[in-house]
Amino acid sequence: MNNFNFHNPTQIIFGRDRLNELVNYIPSKAKVLITYGGGSVEKNGTLQKVRNALSNNYFREFGGIEPNPRFETLMKAVELIKKENIDFLLAVGGGSVMDGTKFISLAAKYNGDPEEILYHSFKPADLKEAMPFGTVVTLPATGSEMNAAAVISYKESKYAVICPLTFPRFSFLDPALTFTLPKTQVANGVIDTFVHVMEQYLTFPVDARFQDRTAEGILQTLVEIGRKTMDNPTDYVLRANLVWNSTMALNGLIGAGVPQDWTTHMIGHELTAFFGIDHAKTLAVILPALLQVRYEQKKEKLIQYAERVWKIENGTDEFKADQAIRKTREFFESLDVKTRLTDYNISSSDFDKIIQGLKEKHLTELSETREVTLEVSRHILENAF
Ligand code: NZQ
Ligand code: ZN
Repeated sequence: MNNFNFHNPTQIIFGRDRLNELVNYIPSKAKVLITYGGGSVEKNGTLQKVRNALSNNYFREFGGIEPNPRFETLMKAVELIKKENIDFLLAVGGGSVMDGTKFISLAAKYNGDPEEILYHSFKPADLKEAMPFGTVVTLPATGSEMNAAAVISYKESKYAVICPLTFPRFSFLDPALTFTLPKTQVANGVIDTFVHVMEQYLTFPVDARFQDRTAEGILQTLVEIGRKTMDNPTDYVLRANLVWNSTMALNGLIGAGVPQDWTTHMIGHELTAFFGIDHAKTLAVILPALLQVRYEQKKEKLIQYAERVWKIENGTDEFKADQAIRKTREFFESLDVKTRLTDYNISSSDFDKIIQGLKEKHLTELSETREVTLEVSRHILENAF
């Protein structure tokens, strides 16, 4: 097991009908800005529950944060914050609203050009503070509710902004608030969670038994409940399991002390930026292709994954690894998510700009071994047909 630091300060308030406790977590004199997305929370009543809970607080609202939140939209919230002297943020939504709110919390306290936050080009002295914020989660997928990452869209790119100042102070996880999700978003949540785990698990062995077995437990749970929670959206127990697995998949726990490989996410972000494909759907295309291309480097873990997650216990090592990759693709397809670039009308003539996008962000040495050069990334794309 490798050396690591582990610190996660986010308080989780989990369970049904707990929004009336919101006031306990927000400073009593705070001037709050509630941030939300394109209106689902207005339609399904979640926003009204939040308003009711904050009826004795000063609050304003900022809606319209789009999926794959855009820099320009978020900067409008920063303007409002300055005008209204806001000092606490409350994100009500999915990963896009939570990520957007993280960026707002940094930009509101930043004296330089906020674009620099996207490129991590600030001097540490300029980024000492972020506005405190909490979240009310309506979509289990990203883990943003308990991590310090945000993915922000600007021009034709997506930028990962990772800053220890942007852990939420608290997150409310009420599985019932996710019942109104369309099936396709539930599938996205299952796949995003699955791939987050794979990127921290399917590398090479370092004898990290807790991390491995916890990762395998999450993967097995997702296989068990994924389709069921899509088909039974108001089954509280199924959904509660998805919600908690999503959070635990990307809060630092299973990634501590192990090699990680974020290649799938990095290539996936380019696909979203250029073609507007949902985040999780890009992952469902790239991961099986990556496992094929990086087969030799990942072989030991692929066999472990085959045996422990998919229970493929007989046959040669090659057979087990091949079957595990096939099962992974079949699982995504069983959630009605397509896994080939052609399903999204992407052809090889699009590869140059995808590779250029990676190059511009210096993503030229990806993976657990830093061997995924632009050439290997292109090879992964070629395997994704
Ligand atoms: O915008 P509204 O109207 O709220 O509708 C949203 C949106 O259209 C809808 N929705 C959310 N909760 C709902 C609901 N509809 C009905 N009922 C509910 N309860 O779902 C749609 C998608 O929402 P979005 O927040 O975009 O989805 P998701 O949570 O999958 O977030 C995706 C974003 O997170 C980033 C992605 O890159 C993408 O920008 N990621 C963030 C990560 C992180 N912070 O650690 C890691 C991830 O790997 C990911 O990259
Ligand atoms: Zn993701």
